[in-house]
Amino acid sequence: CGIVGIVGNQPVAERLVDALKRLEYRGYDSAGVATIDNGVMDRRRAEGKLFNLEKKLDGEPLAGTIGIAHTRWATHGVPNETNAHPHFVGGVAVVHNGIIENFSELKDELIADGAVFTTQTDTEVVAQLIAKYRRQGLDNRAAMLAMLNHVKGAYALVVMFADDPDTIMAARFGPPLAIGFGKGEMFLGSDAIALAPFTNEIAYLVDGDCAILHKDSAEIIDFAGNPVERPHQISQATAFVVDKGNHRHFMEKEIYEQPEVISHALSNYVDFHGHTVKPVDAAIDFKSLRGLAVSACGTAYLSGLVGKYWFERYARLPVEIDVASEFRYREMPLYKDQAALFISQSGETADTLASLRYCHEQGLKIGAIVNVKESTIARESDAIFPILAGPEIGVASTKAFTCQLAVLASLAIAAGKARGTVSPEEEKQLVKSLAEMPRIMSQVLNSIQQQMESLARDLSKFKDVLYLGRGTSFPLAMEGALKLKEISYIHAEGYAAGELKHGPIALIDENMPVIVIAPYDRFFEKTVSNMQEVAARGGRIIFITDEKGAAASKLDTMATIVLPNVAEIISPMVFALPIQLLAYHTAVFMGTDVDQPRNLAKSVTVE
Ligand code: G6P
Repeated sequence: CGIVGIVGNQPVAERLVDALKRLEYRGYDSAGVATIDNGVMDRRRAEGKLFNLEKKLDGEPLAGTIGIAHTRWATHGVPNETNAHPHFVGGVAVVHNGIIENFSELKDELIADGAVFTTQTDTEVVAQLIAKYRRQGLDNRAAMLAMLNHVKGAYALVVMFADDPDTIMAARFGPPLAIGFGKGEMFLGSDAIALAPFTNEIAYLVDGDCAILHKDSAEIIDFAGNPVERPHQISQATAFVVDKGNHRHFMEKEIYEQPEVISHALSNYVDFHGHTVKPVDAAIDFKSLRGLAVSACGTAYLSGLVGKYWFERYARLPVEIDVASEFRYREMPLYKDQAALFISQSGETADTLASLRYCHEQGLKIGAIVNVKESTIARESDAIFPILAGPEIGVASTKAFTCQLAVLASLAIAAGKARGTVSPEEEKQLVKSLAEMPRIMSQVLNSIQQQMESLARDLSKFKDVLYLGRGTSFPLAMEGALKLKEISYIHAEGYAAGELKHGPIALIDENMPVIVIAPYDRFFEKTVSNMQEVAARGGRIIFITDEKGAAASKLDTMATIVLPNVAEIISPMVFALPIQLLAYHTAVFMGTDVDQPRNLAKSVTVE
């Protein structure tokens, strides 16, 4: 899931591993590094965390001033040392992110030709193909291009040749890859964060690009060999110090950062003094729109689902929303007077990007709510709506979620203003409420911490948990369940409270706590009735509500978490805090790998 390469003038092994550490946040289950020293290409690989790879390198160091390295998130073949990259075949070393879709056909052909495969990976066909073309007499560059013209799928590839210690080649079709320009050294990395300690001068490869790097030069060509130019940019990534501060985990740090980052996010969209929303990028003309198509994955999808409630309520704008893996294939009818909105923290998620391209082909204007402004999704959009959350390292998304919500809320108000469905007075009230949010969030974070810790201890004893909510608290219930299952591995489901009787109620007994998210809003009474149905069947309730809600409900609960009464528009962001903290402390209590939960990746650049 992470790639680094260096062709340079100083030893590379340690620097490659340090760069991999900066990509750790993407999630992985094995890692490896290869270098060339005195004409000998060698590698070290290890299952599990980078720590294991470092131990191997301590025992048996790798010298050399050229090298490539990789963290692997298994797709084809289990995450063991044999399947870890780099893969070596006949003097060719390859690391790869993505999936080679036609690998089994290619593998059959290669085997018929006499090739002997040593791994179960799809990546090995890349190394085998290049090796085959070299045996046929092609030079390294021609062999690389011949391979690129035969593989299909999604890939970021970096290749090194034992007989050429001054060249690294790379190619992109899907997952991101950036060239870093140094002094007498050239770098490659999955993102600018990986390259930040080396250089801030970056050029992103575009799909269909092949890069050929030497110590002192870089050349980019297309797969037919024609030269192409890509702009050099100065990356902002260097400025960020990616550390945990005083926190035990990145996730905890990111949860506590929310009041601060959300005010950054908001200040981009609202005028805190005049209490108005700022004008929206003219590329998306909310006034004339007939509808909005929204698509995203994971947590970003759930923020979009909250956004749907807002756009429909405040702007009377119909929203069609789906997870991107379905959206891209649904063949839904789209109209040119609809706009499409894509939400993605990383801006690189393969399914979201494919949905974007589908809408682009249909002639829709594209808006992107992203955290990484230089990402592919951002670059392919007509209007970029940054969430300004700063790098999010914890695999389980927290601050990106609430910042996405803040941006969606601001956009929904702006859309309502443009469409005449939000009056100036209403705009003022809504923006005032948004402006209060950072202060309220920090007050909540301080006041509930202890209760969340002790509740987490109780929750960790259960195997299944149900989350319920209505209105915007429904997507929040799903987000609560997602957070808990992602990092504590406790099975959890989020349901619309009204759906309880249509299925999940059959599961209710004293072994399955039900977390009910219910601010004192228009739906409160109805949700309380659903709680009653739970209580009547011996279910235990964890009730997340506000002061008015706590006063109004007479039910016995396992715990009641009381938040301040807040305006309806900000309640999803405020109520996100207890569900995040509860998942976090439960995972800490259970001793799981909070920041890099098993099997998950931060940035999913494969289908
Ligand atoms: C992965 C991450 C999730 C994230 C989802 C979408 O599954 O583990 O935390 O919500 O991808 O990622 P994106 O970068 O598009 O928001």
